[in-house]
Amino acid sequence: MDIRMETVPPAQRKAKPDEKSLGFGRIFTDHMFVMAYTADRGWHDPHIRPYGHFSLDPAAMVLHYGQAIFEGLKAYRGEDNGIRLFRPQANLERMNRSATRMCMPTLPLDTALAGLQVLLKVDSDWVPRAQGATLYIRPTMVATEAGLGVRPAKEYLFFIILSPVGAYYPEGFNPVKIFVTDTYVRAVAGGVGEAKTAGNYAASIMAAVEAQKQGFTQVLWLDARERRYVEEVGTMNIFFVLGDRVVTPPLSGSILPGITRESVLQLLGDWGLAVEERPITIDEVLAANQRGELREVFGTGTAAVISPVGSLHYKGQDCLINGGKTGELAQRLFNELTAIQYGRKADPHQWVLRL
Ligand code: COI
Repeated sequence: MDIRMETVPPAQRKAKPDEKSLGFGRIFTDHMFVMAYTADRGWHDPHIRPYGHFSLDPAAMVLHYGQAIFEGLKAYRGEDNGIRLFRPQANLERMNRSATRMCMPTLPLDTALAGLQVLLKVDSDWVPRAQGATLYIRPTMVATEAGLGVRPAKEYLFFIILSPVGAYYPEGFNPVKIFVTDTYVRAVAGGVGEAKTAGNYAASIMAAVEAQKQGFTQVLWLDARERRYVEEVGTMNIFFVLGDRVVTPPLSGSILPGITRESVLQLLGDWGLAVEERPITIDEVLAANQRGELREVFGTGTAAVISPVGSLHYKGQDCLINGGKTGELAQRLFNELTAIQYGRKADPHQWVLRL
């Protein structure tokens, strides 16, 4: 499919922000990629247009029944000034799995990837130069058909927006304080927990707000049935270093199949470390910490990258991990992943797509 271009005249483009104080997801670039779907025409009219408002019917089905899915990936500017994407095909493939789960149409992957690349070329000046800053990419699909019957919509919009970002957490790469909730649950087996759908994030907000009021960065979710097994943290998957083994919960259907998670598992395997994807209870984690065997806890995610966990708060008790300091393995993984993403190191798994 040809991509139609409607660009902003250079003199009318926005001023670039100060890269030292970007925050996360507050500033958007000059353009976006948009493609429409109708049941009779399929996906059509892929185009680049100025970033701006959509006009939506108040009965648009996304506003009522939440058919909305999204992805998150990043573009990195290397020291050679080259722009690199990290595993964009994996993100788009995951988006199609989310689409299938939410009864939404799957994307033509070649057009979606071409649209992303054209968009990045048009807005390439927005890929930050400052260390630690990246261009966050948010592909999104929503149901636009007007109607109040509960059924799959027949019309959708797919769009990609871009946002220059700094660290996701105010802590940056410093250890975060996590609240383990046994009051709320995020997802149940058989539900939509493994789809990257908006409702999963809406469902998480109340627990996150309550945790933040008490001074915690994010919530760690336990399984919905027994409230014993660790699932994931608000915006990241979670790993535990127990003695010389690295343990992470398996993809049981209720947690997000993270692309950073998968990349970390690959790197740990490359380094010859013992990795276990298996159910792990919060009691096992805390008991190991008491015995001095819990060496590190860290989260993984596109926005969060590798985020060391300094403490877990569970049932009124604070459990300090690794003295509240960043662990060796979290640091090594952060260094390795970012070196590959910025093109400072070889990319043995062909994860990087150069623009
Ligand atoms: C990401 O890591 O890209 C995510 O999608 C998390 C986001 C909700 C901030």
